[in-house]
Amino acid sequence: MKVAIASDHGGINIREEIKALLTELGIEFQDFGCECETSVDYPDYALPVAEKVASGEFDRGILICGTGIGMSISANKVKGIRCALVHDVFSAKATRGHNDSNMLAMGERVIGPGLAREIAKTWLTTEYEGGRHANRIGKISEYEQKNL
Ligand code: RB5
Repeated sequence: MKVAIASDHGGINIREEIKALLTELGIEFQDFGCECETSVDYPDYALPVAEKVASGEFDRGILICGTGIGMSISANKVKGIRCALVHDVFSAKATRGHNDSNMLAMGERVIGPGLAREIAKTWLTTEYEGGRHANRIGKISEYEQKNL
């Protein structure tokens, strides 16, 4: 698995925590910034990473900002992206199992590094269940094909 990761200025600490986790798990990753001391705009990081996941260059993407909201809204504008904004371990498991989410967004002003690490670990290691969920995801893809 190849993971693309990025954050804005509001998510730098959790980004470092998740990079350490990825290294521990032996998962290949690339960090797409930000290299920021000052304020940056989250779409400038979310959109390129989402495009890299949508194109297949990376299997999954992880985005962190202050709330995770701006990153998830931006990433979900890219066709083929199912970015889940997650702040609990139950949802991390459910969104992989049920939604086959290919991107994870978290907010550093919402949760601490310990919980972020558990969420990311669960999200990275939970398999998509398919079955009845495939039909639902198919309806999203069908809409994207017709409208985007
Ligand atoms: C930046 O101040 C903040 O708006 C951003 O990190 C994020 O929370 C947006 O959704």
